[in-house]
Amino acid sequence: MEKKNIRIFQSVKELAAYSMEWMSLKMKEATKDKFFTVALSGGTTPKQLFEYLAMHGQGTVDWTKILFFWSDERCVAPDNVDSNYHMAKFCLLDKLEIPEEHIFRIHGEAEPIEEAKRYSLILEENVPLRNGLPCFDLILLGLGEDGHTASIFPGNTHLFESARYCESVKHPQTGQQRVTLTGSVINNADNVVFLVTGSGKAEIVSRVLNTAKNDYPASLVCPVHGRIKWFLDQNAASRLI
Ligand code: 6PG
Repeated sequence: MEKKNIRIFQSVKELAAYSMEWMSLKMKEATKDKFFTVALSGGTTPKQLFEYLAMHGQGTVDWTKILFFWSDERCVAPDNVDSNYHMAKFCLLDKLEIPEEHIFRIHGEAEPIEEAKRYSLILEENVPLRNGLPCFDLILLGLGEDGHTASIFPGNTHLFESARYCESVKHPQTGQQRVTLTGSVINNADNVVFLVTGSGKAEIVSRVLNTAKNDYPASLVCPVHGRIKWFLDQNAASRLI
């Protein structure tokens, strides 16, 4: 990973502020004549960014031009605290009054295999295609301590070769069913941004970014024609050389 694609911030607040400015620039560049398509990441890390966007983002970008998708979802009801949609709705979407028709959640309550098929059709209908795959303007990703990203876990790296847009998978530890974008779609995005914070991620960040050759799923994120950025707080970056 080239150093220029990694930005390290003193605090999560600084990371969120920079992310907002960076995203609003990308959104302004892209939304002149079309919608800006973003796939939100799950877990707890993006919560801090969403809260910052909700509090400070009102005037920074035309939110009516943004279409919201997810990079993955836990197969739980939309009002379940484990739901990535539930977190984004509460922390961001409701606060910015995003129109329902611009929100394309993964139906965690549905049968996973059927939902992966349904969501693939949703992507085909609402995200411009490039090279025969949905091409998101921006995909936000997190990083698990085992090197997973979205819901592509170690041992599932075949999802980076999948011809499908979405797949249903099982969390290797908890057995929780998930629906995830495939690595093929992730690597077809115009912009991919990893948001990683906290000292608990320092080791895996070092392994993914410092080790030239490794097979962590996150290391296989390498946009074919787009750009990749890592936004880290200093705790998550503390073992980077
Ligand atoms: C999910 C995510 C997953 C997450 C990482 C980091 O649904 O859990 O998509 O890939 O981004 O596990 O999670 P934290 O931000 O909670 O550490």
